[in-house]
Amino acid sequence: MDTDPVSFKEFDHYLRDLERINVLTLASRPTLLWLKRAPADFPAERPISVRDVGRGGGGMLRQLRKWARGKNLKLDLTGVGVNPWSTRSAAESTPLEMSIRFETADRLARMDPLWTDFIVSSSFTQHLGDADLVKTCSVTSCLISS
Ligand SMILES: C[S@@+](CC[C@H](N)C(=O)[O-])C[C@H]1O[C@@H](n2cnc3c(N)ncnc32)[C@H](O)[C@@H]1O
Repeated sequence: MDTDPVSFKEFDHYLRDLERINVLTLASRPTLLWLKRAPADFPAERPISVRDVGRGGGGMLRQLRKWARGKNLKLDLTGVGVNPWSTRSAAESTPLEMSIRFETADRLARMDPLWTDFIVSSSFTQHLGDADLVKTCSVTSCLISS
């Protein structure tokens, strides 16, 4: 999807369609269910940082923000993607008051552990070859559910 010769408008449509498919197929459910159990282990005085690697249009982070609001839970949310167009699309799809950071970066170019409480990734590992998958999992704890 990142290499098709399309306009930004078409690319942006891809990501919005993907978000609709994710909603219909409950694709984010395993990640959200897992993450929802985690805050109990954290002190309430500081925000919990969550980094979504391969975040596409940022739908997972918006869902997390909505969920956290009702629980008075402070989350520091960052979405990372390799494609600058997906960063633009994610930013344009996200109201500013949601306060989510979107960064353009290649996860494979930076294999040091990330300073964050949690890393989530959904529908991302199919972009990796076997060696990169193993490398990525070795610096994070991987729960592979799809
Ligand atoms: C299939 S999309 C999934 C997007 C989103 N997580 C979702 O579930 O809708 C995978 C995303 O991973 C990004 N990606 C692929 N390789 C990457 C890398 N090495 N570092 C960061 N992002 C990458 C792609 O640009 C794409 O936006």
